[in-house]
Amino acid sequence: MGFVVALDGPAGSGKGTVTKKVAEILNLVNIDTGAMYRCVALECIYNNILPTEIDKIEKVLEKIDIKLEKKEGKQIVLLNGKDVTKEIRTPKVDDVVAKFAAIKQIRDKITPMQQQMGKNSDIIMEGRDIGTVVFPNADVKIFLDCSIEERANRRYKQNLEKGIQETYEEVLESIKQRHILETQREIAPLKQADDAIYVDSTNLTIEEVVEKIVKIIKEKRS
Ligand code: DC
Repeated sequence: MGFVVALDGPAGSGKGTVTKKVAEILNLVNIDTGAMYRCVALECIYNNILPTEIDKIEKVLEKIDIKLEKKEGKQIVLLNGKDVTKEIRTPKVDDVVAKFAAIKQIRDKITPMQQQMGKNSDIIMEGRDIGTVVFPNADVKIFLDCSIEERANRRYKQNLEKGIQETYEEVLESIKQRHILETQREIAPLKQADDAIYVDSTNLTIEEVVEKIVKIIKEKRS
């Protein structure tokens, strides 16, 4: 087993950006587990499969091939050999992925794939259930939190930059809905592991969060 850092937290806590930077600084392999659930959702969209159609989902899972690779220094996501790095972040996937991620058969397939990735490398893996389910014995566990209002604020600003027209209130409402789905689902809900270190990013810059987390990991690693 390599050295494993588990980083969990809600969408909008800055997890993705922070994980990427911490991985670079500490030379860890960065694994974005949300991308894997996004791939399953996208494959189901391609095949017109709804989250209720479990038999069809099981067939998809039998032959799905998901790879997280590095190309020219950037992380890319391959779904059955096709580069879907950008497509998995589009609204059509955003809208349905939480429903697929709540399905037991999907988690039963994805979780062992993630565990395998920690076998031979030193990794930082980000998600919702990494410290609780995927790597309950991780060397370092961090729970990166942020207030719902600040998460909505960040998403609202990102939307403005992308030219997406949505009011702050609409963004806040959709973040609240997603939060309920993620924290109250039956299997592997978003939850802080008992032994995770809590970091609140609400009033911190990305750089401040990175600095804090690098320090925590260095202390545990030495
Ligand atoms: O982090 P993200 O927004 O890319 O995650 C996409 C979806 O997958 C989101 O609905 C949460 C879910 N997810 C999960 O259930 N467990 C994980 N370990 C990672 C993501």
